This record gives sequence, C-alpha cells and structure tokens, in this order.
Amino acid sequence: MPPEPSQWLVEPLGKKHDRAAFSCGNEILDHYLKELAGQDARRRVAAPFIVVAKTAPQTILGYYTLSSFGIDLAELPADVVRKLPTYPVVPAALLGRLAVDRRQQGQGLGEFLLIDALRRAFVQSSQIAAFAVVVDAIDEKAIGFYKHFDFLPLPDRPNRLFLPMKTIADLFRDF
Ligand SMILES: CC(C)(COP(=O)(O)OP(=O)(O)OC[C@H]1O[C@@H](n2cnc3c(N)ncnc32)[C@H](O)[C@@H]1OP(=O)(O)O)[C@@H](O)C(=O)NCCC(=O)NCCS
Repeated sequence: MPPEPSQWLVEPLGKKHDRAAFSCGNEILDHYLKELAGQDARRRVAAPFIVVAKTAPQTILGYYTLSSFGIDLAELPADVVRKLPTYPVVPAALLGRLAVDRRQQGQGLGEFLLIDALRRAFVQSSQIAAFAVVVDAIDEKAIGFYKHFDFLPLPDRPNRLFLPMKTIADLFRDF
C-alpha cells in the first residue's frame, strides 16, 4: 500500500538525508540533489525541501527548490500585463526543480509536493511579495505535469510557466 499523504513529511534538506539513493529518471535532477542542492542552500540561492515517509526519515522520496525571482513584464501575456503596474520586472517565487523518486511516482507525491511548495510560496508572499509562482519545466512531460495544475506558459518561452498568486490564494482560501 502506498503511504497516505499524512504519513509524508516535508522538511529542509539536511545532512541526515540519504541523497545517494535518489533516482527520478532524469539525470540532471538527480545530479542536482546529490551534488548541488546543499551548496545552493549554503549560498542562499535556492531553498531545497525534501519529502520523506515518517517511518523512514532518511530516505528522500522527492524534492523541490524555491528561490526569489523576477519576471520581465514583457515576457508575460498581454491580458496579465494589463492588470500589473508598469515596472520592468515583477517579483515572483521560482519553483526551480521538483522531482519524485521513480519508485514512488504515480501515487500522488508530485501533487503533494507541488501543493506544499505553492502553500509555502503563498505564505511567504505576505512578507516578501511575489505576484506568481514560476516554474522551469525540464521537458515536455514536465510541461504536461504543470499544465495539469493550470500553470500557464509564457508566450515566447513555453518551458517557463507561471501560476498567479491570486489563483494560489483562492486555492488555500478554505484551508
Ligand atoms: C513529474 C513528476 C514530478 C510527477 O510526480 P508523480 O508523483 O508521478 O505525480 P502524481 O502521482 O502526484 O500525479 C498527480 C496528477 O498529475 C498527473 N500527472 C503526472 N505526471 C503528468 C504529466 N507528465 N503530464 C500530465 N499530467 C501528469 C497525474 O495523472 C495526476 O493526475 P490526477 O490526480 O488527475 O489523476 C514525476 O513524474 C517526476 O519526478 N518526473 C521526473 C522529473 C520531472 O520531470 N520533474 C518535473 C519538474 S522539472
């Protein structure tokens, strides 16, 4: 039986977590977790979060990273720009990477991680404003995953997608 979401725990990547065993099927995302995520955290360019089962707290089942970001107003669709001030760059939260271990895919863990990341970005946005959450999808499959959750592609850069914070706020209004 796959674990229920309540059996999963999201926490910042730490020394106790076993990075070596993680494999999501994409070498770039595996390499990032194993070799670069800790360094990025120390340099404060990305905040990596991992998910474990409460019963196996060292085994990384999935991860994501969040960073501060800015989107050029010119990159956004015209109907979105119309509702924004005419600053050259608007603040956003970047969900830089998100991956689930191959052995755990298809059980709702990707959705669980995505919702956790959106909630975290939403909570932060009341203190450090962000107009949207932006993702850089690594391939067509990843684009499909984010579109499934209503992310919208930037017109001239289809692998970069965004979800307005207003939409995210509506998602958490009842929680
Ligand atoms: C993409 C990935 C994160 C999805 O994780 P997962 O745990 O397998 O996905 P879930 O089981 O949570 O799926 C949640 C929903 O998304 C849908 N979904 C999953 N992958 C999808 C895809 N590629 N395209 C469209 N929909 C997708 C599922 O059908 C499911 O929909 P439902 O709830 O309506 O049935 C995972 O496959 C992965 O890590 N892949 C390799 C790395 C990667 O591509 N990362 C993407 C970010 S760069």
